[in-house]
Amino acid sequence: MADEPATARALLARAAGVVVFTGAGVSAESGVPTFRGPGGLWKAFRPEQLATPEAFARDPRLVWEWYGWRRDALAACRPNLAHVAIGRFLLTRAGVTLVTQNVDDLHERGALEAATGLAREGRLPAAGAAGDAASRPAPERGGGAAPLLDDEQPRAANAAAAARAAPIRLHGSIFHARCTRCGARTEHRAAVDASSLATLPRCGACGGLLRPDVVWFGEVLPEGALETAFAAAAAAEVCLVVGTAGAVHPAAALVDETRGGGGRVVVVDPGETAYDDVADVRLWGAAGEVLPGLLG
Ligand code: OAD
Repeated sequence: MADEPATARALLARAAGVVVFTGAGVSAESGVPTFRGPGGLWKAFRPEQLATPEAFARDPRLVWEWYGWRRDALAACRPNLAHVAIGRFLLTRAGVTLVTQNVDDLHERGALEAATGLAREGRLPAAGAAGDAASRPAPERGGGAAPLLDDEQPRAANAAAAARAAPIRLHGSIFHARCTRCGARTEHRAAVDASSLATLPRCGACGGLLRPDVVWFGEVLPEGALETAFAAAAAAEVCLVVGTAGAVHPAAALVDETRGGGGRVVVVDPGETAYDDVADVRLWGAAGEVLPGLLG
């Protein structure tokens, strides 16, 4: 096993297909706590009280309070150099797929910073120009298109570009909610008032209780996301693993798909991971320090 940034750079440069697979560590330098290890969320909180369907059925107020607290904390966080480097890589390279286990929105915000930087440099590729990821349709925005003011146009173009670099989410999004009665899904960014059952977020369609649209322990992963991610990993020549201990399945098995297809594995992480014995290149370091040089 080599420990060389140059080897990793060469592998990435000649790979036709790359999957970037991220976990909580990619957001650590933004101030978002990881789950395991020192200062990890699962050191301070018990998952079975906060991140299972049974916990929500027992005490939805407590679960919403925890997710509301995590959302508030995220509002104060900014994407770090790793998010921006990954966003830039997605927007400028063909054949790159981003798969994340994270429920934060820092990849999207990092991609927006990357798109803004590329636009300033006159290097923002047109839709479809950077291949698979860039040609993915932007998510539905809803509503009719209002005419844009002049100074809004570049911002809108950058946002549209950034949307094309959106990750495949294996564990959902903390800024989305799902109705426990009718199943409707919605973006949900409003402040959560968890002071009583009556004030918890409700479905706009049927009035049912909303829940965070994240994957809890014991639940199946979002329909289609796992299949799409695994197919991309199986076809990839390189799986770049960033900031995940590799402890939670089935997400953790993504790396096996790339290996099974004859692809290489590059791991960037300052701590030990489940992939250390199978990594073709192991870069011990913080994502924000390693990725700009690796992907730039
Ligand atoms: P973990 O907390 O298990 O692992 C975080 C990884 O990030 C560890 O390997 C750390 O060494 C590494 N790390 C810490 N700082 C870093 C930095 N600056 N740069 C790069 N790496 C760094 O988090 P995940 O592997 O993401 O699931 O956890 C997987 C799943 O477990 C989560 O999605 C969540 C959790 O329970 C659900 O909620 C379903």
